[in-house]
Amino acid sequence: MTATAKKRLNVVFEDQQPVTGDNCAELIEGLSHKQKQANPKYFYDQKGSELFEQITQQHEYYPSRVEKAILSQHASEIANYCGENCVLIEPGSGNSEKVRLLLEKLQPATYVPLDISADFLYQSAQKLGREFPWLNIHAICADFSDQWHSRTELESGRRVIFYPGSTIGNMKPESAQSFLSNLREWIGQDGSVLIGVDLQKSENLLNAAYNDAQGVTADFNLNMLNSINNLVNADFNSDHFSHYAFYNNDQSRIEMHLVSEKSQTVNIDDNLIHFAKGETLHTENSYKYSLVSFTALCNAAGFTLEKSWVDDEELFSVHYLSISKSQKI
Ligand code: AVJ
Repeated sequence: MTATAKKRLNVVFEDQQPVTGDNCAELIEGLSHKQKQANPKYFYDQKGSELFEQITQQHEYYPSRVEKAILSQHASEIANYCGENCVLIEPGSGNSEKVRLLLEKLQPATYVPLDISADFLYQSAQKLGREFPWLNIHAICADFSDQWHSRTELESGRRVIFYPGSTIGNMKPESAQSFLSNLREWIGQDGSVLIGVDLQKSENLLNAAYNDAQGVTADFNLNMLNSINNLVNADFNSDHFSHYAFYNNDQSRIEMHLVSEKSQTVNIDDNLIHFAKGETLHTENSYKYSLVSFTALCNAAGFTLEKSWVDDEELFSVHYLSISKSQKI
């Protein structure tokens, strides 16, 4: 795979041309389970990304609002932890909205947004570069789960991974642990992680956040079916499914499902998939942590939790992690 680099102003754009895996095979595999499931990545077509943006503006959906407040309020202290001239790397950077809250205080040597969507990343990086003319930006279009870093020369400096949005909550705890553990390999002995994590709280608040009154989350969930139809040769009819989200207390996670409103058969690339009336397609998990359970997860992954910032209502948390001494050579 050849990497192409374009230099314009303070923005370098490197396209590693990530190969998108076989979506069709992955979808059919997920639909063959007793509990049918689909990867939440299928939410995010153009329409789905717009709907997610709208979710973040709903009153009931506290995570984005509260995380941004925490980052703004503690930007100076966060900058002190990260240190001067760090190389700030953001996997799944999207429109780089949240990093803007830190940049003035942090003054990183380089900001490295990583995203799988080349056009969107290019546009976002150019826009950020115009807004912050002093900032070096090295945008990399790559699949973060892939070995992208082995093909990349990064600027020198202490590496800090910025992973906001409680995106880690989409992973099962054992995957979250190996995800964190894998980060250690390439941030180096002195690297660190700045991560946003949603907290356990009253079931009412959690259920409300994923069942907003305007029905935006329902539209977002149902849109996954249209997104799948457009991506592979499938004929889901979103009119015949309904949104269902609830807090699973035993597993400490919000589960989102699409409930089949009738007995129906869906065709995906000439595979017939039957849904009984009331049967569900599990579309997302969103794990919620306590400070205790997140600390345990970090420790198991070889990280030490240096500092946690939490809002007054203890809705959301941002953590600064460094590599545990026992992991250092
Ligand atoms: C993308 C993981 C932050 O779990 O809250 C919002 C996505 N799903 N409403 C979350 C989502 C339904 C979200 N994250």
